[in-house]
Amino acid sequence: MSGERAALLKVSDLSVAYPGTGGGHVLEDVSFTVAEGERVALLGANGAGKSTLLLALLGIIEAHAGGIEIDGVLLEKKSLPLVRRKLGLLFQDPDDQLFMPTVYDDVVFGPRNQAENDGKAAEAGTEALIAEAADRMLAKLDILHLKDRMSHKLSGGEKRLAALASVLVTEPRMLLMDEPSAYLDPRARRRLFTLLGRLDEAFLVATHDLDLAQNLCGRCLLLHKGRLRADGPAKDIINDRSLLDECAL
Ligand SMILES: Nc1ncnc2c1ncn2[C@@H]1O[C@H](COP(=O)(O)OP(=O)(O)O)[C@@H](O)[C@H]1O
Ligand SMILES: [Mg+2]
Repeated sequence: MSGERAALLKVSDLSVAYPGTGGGHVLEDVSFTVAEGERVALLGANGAGKSTLLLALLGIIEAHAGGIEIDGVLLEKKSLPLVRRKLGLLFQDPDDQLFMPTVYDDVVFGPRNQAENDGKAAEAGTEALIAEAADRMLAKLDILHLKDRMSHKLSGGEKRLAALASVLVTEPRMLLMDEPSAYLDPRARRRLFTLLGRLDEAFLVATHDLDLAQNLCGRCLLLHKGRLRADGPAKDIINDRSLLDECAL
């Protein structure tokens, strides 16, 4: 247990089934918590249920049973907008996240939307604050030079960071990432590790990249066939060959 630190995310006995698939559970009785500022790797072979779990946390896939609580808010239909503001998801494929003409347009899209929802879009100064926040985030991720580039013409590594900027600029309480190191060359991968290592936000990262888990995460959750097979210190789980073998990693 993480002791004094308050639980930021609490998942209790979560079961999930995809509609129209005969009711078989893709996740079964999954329970865990993530504390403020904690970095957790969600490990598991292909098909273990990692992406499904991330989608369930955002309410994109409905839980069949169990509960999800984020920053004290219970996930239910009426709390969806609030929950989605507290969680930022970095999609597996950055092309799904970057859909505006330029990097800058993508990065200001979320904040503009939030300002709209808060009824602040027309207020004097809002646009300037958004522009400042976007520049600050691009600079933090060392990609200010990409600001006016066309998103779809960036390299894989650049797209990944632009997508990350577009998520972080909305100031989520917790970052969810789905296979962020997939398709990156070694240099882009190291760069991503360095930048993720600098973040203050808690994160839950679905990956089968054991280096990423070892370098960035204090703790691992290990999913196997939709069940949580292990939850513990990253070094213990990553060094347990027979456990990893058993879970096809
Ligand atoms: N949209 C869907 N409809 C039905 N079954 C799905 C859907 N998406 C994923 N699944 C199934 O759910 C299981 C878990 O998938 P997924 O969460 O994508 O695993 P992972 O991300 O760990 O590779 C797999 O058996 C997969 O075939
Ligand atoms: Mg997946």
